[in-house]
Amino acid sequence: MAAAGEPEVIRDKAAMRAWSRRRRAEGKTVVLVPTMGFLHEGHLSLVSTAANASAGAPVAVVVSIYVNPSQFAPTEDLATYPSDLAGDLRKLASTGAVHAVFNPPDLYVRGTDGSGGAAVSGSCLQEAAGGHETWIRVERLEVGLCGSSRPVFFRGVATVVSKLFNVVEPDVAVFGKKDYQQWRLICRMVRDLDFAIEIIGSEIVREADGLAMSSRNVHLSREEREKALSISKSLVNARTSALKNSNSASQHMKNQIAQTLSEAGGRVDYVEIVEQESLVPVDTIDRPVVICVAAWFGKVRLIDNIEIHPGS
Ligand code: PAJ
Repeated sequence: MAAAGEPEVIRDKAAMRAWSRRRRAEGKTVVLVPTMGFLHEGHLSLVSTAANASAGAPVAVVVSIYVNPSQFAPTEDLATYPSDLAGDLRKLASTGAVHAVFNPPDLYVRGTDGSGGAAVSGSCLQEAAGGHETWIRVERLEVGLCGSSRPVFFRGVATVVSKLFNVVEPDVAVFGKKDYQQWRLICRMVRDLDFAIEIIGSEIVREADGLAMSSRNVHLSREEREKALSISKSLVNARTSALKNSNSASQHMKNQIAQTLSEAGGRVDYVEIVEQESLVPVDTIDRPVVICVAAWFGKVRLIDNIEIHPGS
């Protein structure tokens, strides 16, 4: 693929849509990578997946950077969510694979949409009262796992991703399997709402010691980070055991993982073993499953998962 050079930074929705339409008219496949910025190697691996998303055909890769207020509950970490736009732009330029960065000032506020109304920022609840009242909900997949402790999270994600799809009009969009439930939920939304977009799930990128990369890792102290390694270690051990012993009982495995995390000093939010596509819990590991974990280390909530294909 030809080097993309410095990506063009686009902040306006109409300009973004026009840019994409021009690229498509030139015969390019437009590939979108949605992010909230503060980029790390995990995000950059999605860019690399995007660059190779279309066999043979030229691609135009767009990375969106937007910290979406509507997916944070009032008690969550919107205010402290890390950001570094200049650093992000440097990292994206260094890949040579990004053609445009979409960085809208706000995707929800009525004032900026030209429809009047006061500018509102902050939590999803303020948003709803202040100017945004249309939400996309993926009713079954949004409950359970992260949906239990973050009840407004997935409607915020589904809604903003739909908006990004409507503005960027990509042919392909890339999501990380790190956020497994999010990826499956977007696949389902695209199917249910007939978005003409191919969704690609990209593998989890980890630090050398196994910690799944996350923008939130910067908030871990050295000690917390060390303890958090128990997440990936317990997942790898569980997979090894499940592959060795056919038809393992889920409950036993979940208990073991939860115990390991607690002993390491973590506060477990959930440990679940679910079918890969439907995310329905299984009693026995006798088909392709994914073990999903969320746990707090200090003030940081971390998520991780591992896929298991029994018999492989
Ligand atoms: P964010 O947390 O910035 O993540 C952007 C994308 O990067 C997601 O698809 C996520 O799964 C992927 N990602 C993050 N860490 C990864 C890792 N270690 N390995 C592989 N992929 C990784 O997810 C969001 O933003 C938002 O919810 C968003 C989809 C942008 C909607 O606001």
